[in-house]
Amino acid sequence: MTVHFIGAGPGAPDLLTLRGRDLIAACPVCLYAGSLVPEGVLAHCPRGARIVNTASLSLDEIVAEIAAAHADGKDVARLHSGDLSIWSAMGEQLRRLRALGIPYTVTPGVPSFSAAAAALETELTLPGLAQTVVLTRAPGRASAMPEGERLAAFAATGAVLAIHLSIHLLDNVVAELTPHYGADCPVAIVWRASWPDQRIVRATLGTLDAAVGTEMERTALILVGKTLGAADFDESRLYAADYDRRYRPVGPEPRFPEAT
Ligand SMILES: C[S@@+](CC[C@H](N)C(=O)[O-])C[C@H]1O[C@@H](n2cnc3c(N)ncnc32)[C@H](O)[C@@H]1O
Repeated sequence: MTVHFIGAGPGAPDLLTLRGRDLIAACPVCLYAGSLVPEGVLAHCPRGARIVNTASLSLDEIVAEIAAAHADGKDVARLHSGDLSIWSAMGEQLRRLRALGIPYTVTPGVPSFSAAAAALETELTLPGLAQTVVLTRAPGRASAMPEGERLAAFAATGAVLAIHLSIHLLDNVVAELTPHYGADCPVAIVWRASWPDQRIVRATLGTLDAAVGTEMERTALILVGKTLGAADFDESRLYAADYDRRYRPVGPEPRFPEAT
């Protein structure tokens, strides 16, 4: 018996890895974080599977469900939204399973910041504008931010920020970022990226307040940075015709002659 932790993606049932889909289809038990994993993803479960929404369960209750499946010799698909490497609560579950000697695997998923960037048809890192994306959040009721991880500290670098779990704190986010990026810095809010009712708001830090309606709550990402919607940026050197590289030697004395 194995517990398969699977990144369930941003919401669209076909934005799963093939491995994730096949594991869901093979597991007689499915535990899913129903606050974010939409029911459409559960269509991949086999007929007759035991399907449990863990949104209202405590960690002890979730582990009890897994332990019961373990005792029955039944594989478990454990679904969390997006990818498992960020804000999934997988770490604490793995620690419990290790203590109990219950085997597990981890299958990555499409993170919501990727789905949001795709919805915006945007490359977040553009030459000359920004080469770093910070995945972060504002402090929440259940999660204080470690010292040094304030939004203003990241903003001071000029990196693109993908701010999760913070749409309800939009006023604070704007107030903290504006002194660093300026009121004309582009912002995009993607609500329910990849869901059928996905919505996008594009604005600037200065105009955002007027542009966002109250219906955009919870499942939304705030993206801030100069690359959003930018048209004026450098082309990458990698594909420049005169750029000598291993896969495309250029000139009489290429740097990688053995590749010619
Ligand atoms: C608990 S975190 C989970 C993050 C997830 N593990 C990931 O890889 O994106 C939930 C936050 O992720 C963001 N999020 C998750 N799914 C989203 C989606 N489909 N569209 C926009 N934001 C999403 C929102 O900021 C939400 O508050």
